[in-house]
Amino acid sequence: MAAAGPAEVVVVGSCMTDLVSLTTRLPKAGETIHGHKFFIGFGGKGANQCIQAARLGAKTLMICKVGKDSFGNDYIENFKRNGISTEFVGQTEEAATGAASIIVNREVKTLFNPAPAHAELDPQFYTHSDIFCCNESEAEILTGIPVGSPEDAGKVGLMLLERGCKLVIVTLGAEGCVMISVDEPIPKHVPAGKVRAVDTTGAGDSFVGALAFFMACYPNLSMEELIRKSNFIASVSVQASGTQSSYPYRKDLPQELF
Ligand SMILES: Nc1ncnc2c1ncn2[C@@H]1O[C@H](COP(=O)(O)OP(=O)(O)OP(=O)(O)O)[C@@H](O)[C@H]1O
Ligand SMILES: *[C@@H]1O[C@H](CO)[C@@H](O)[C@H](O)[C@H]1NC(C)=O
Ligand SMILES: *[C@@H]1O[C@H](CO)[C@@H](O)[C@H](O)[C@H]1NC(C)=O
Repeated sequence: MAAAGPAEVVVVGSCMTDLVSLTTRLPKAGETIHGHKFFIGFGGKGANQCIQAARLGAKTLMICKVGKDSFGNDYIENFKRNGISTEFVGQTEEAATGAASIIVNREVKTLFNPAPAHAELDPQFYTHSDIFCCNESEAEILTGIPVGSPEDAGKVGLMLLERGCKLVIVTLGAEGCVMISVDEPIPKHVPAGKVRAVDTTGAGDSFVGALAFFMACYPNLSMEELIRKSNFIASVSVQASGTQSSYPYRKDLPQELF
């Protein structure tokens, strides 16, 4: 299926440089210990989501602020290498903050991911986003309902509909997702395929980034179909280690997805 015109995904969100040290144990306060490996990675939930959408072929633009330092410069290069527009990536002396990411396509559909979640989330976020997508722990923080099964996720979805959401997606790791909407207020479990998971870090951002891509590119597909495709992309990402390093490119995926 061909994409209908140039798809656009705009991400407003965090962008962080990960400084990763591998050690055999954690140091005690003030202690110096030997590490056996060190690397610098590109992270931040907003940036991760934007990278995944870009790698699938969406025209992407990132809105965020990075520091006026070498990490900030490197991150801007990372965006450019992934074909992401950096026109609205600002550089400041202040540290980046990652509170929420909003993804918008050209029909101005908004996808809100409440990360990190706060129990006192401004209620406008429920009513003003087209899609509200959270994981199990965010769902519990927002609703007080512990989520361990698709049934629990359905209860969360119903509560969030009552708070004014139009469509809620709760991601459930290996179980895939549950969706529920005002148009069809019956929870629907969309399972993920069975895969051998190596590292699930960043799976949620891969899912949200893929969903933004598919929403922008295939506005006519049903939400269930969009979620099925996004589950597939995220399930590919859990089969390799790292966050952005595990995000697949369009050329390496089954072409039936596109
Ligand atoms: N073990 C797995 N097998 C298959 N798919 C998976 C697995 N874990 C995650 N996924 C896919 O990734 C999506 C998001 O996973 P999850 O709900 O764990 O997000 P998350 O908790 O926000 O992730 P993280 O915080 O680690 O980035 C799932 O809906 C599913 O599509
Ligand atoms: C999507 O649906 C709209 C309205 O039903 C239609 O005009 C348009 O041609 C469809 N686009 C594609 C790519 O199928
Ligand atoms: C859900 O996402 C948050 C980030 O908001 C993360 O800290 C948490 O570990 C995730 N929960 C699960 C169950 O993976």
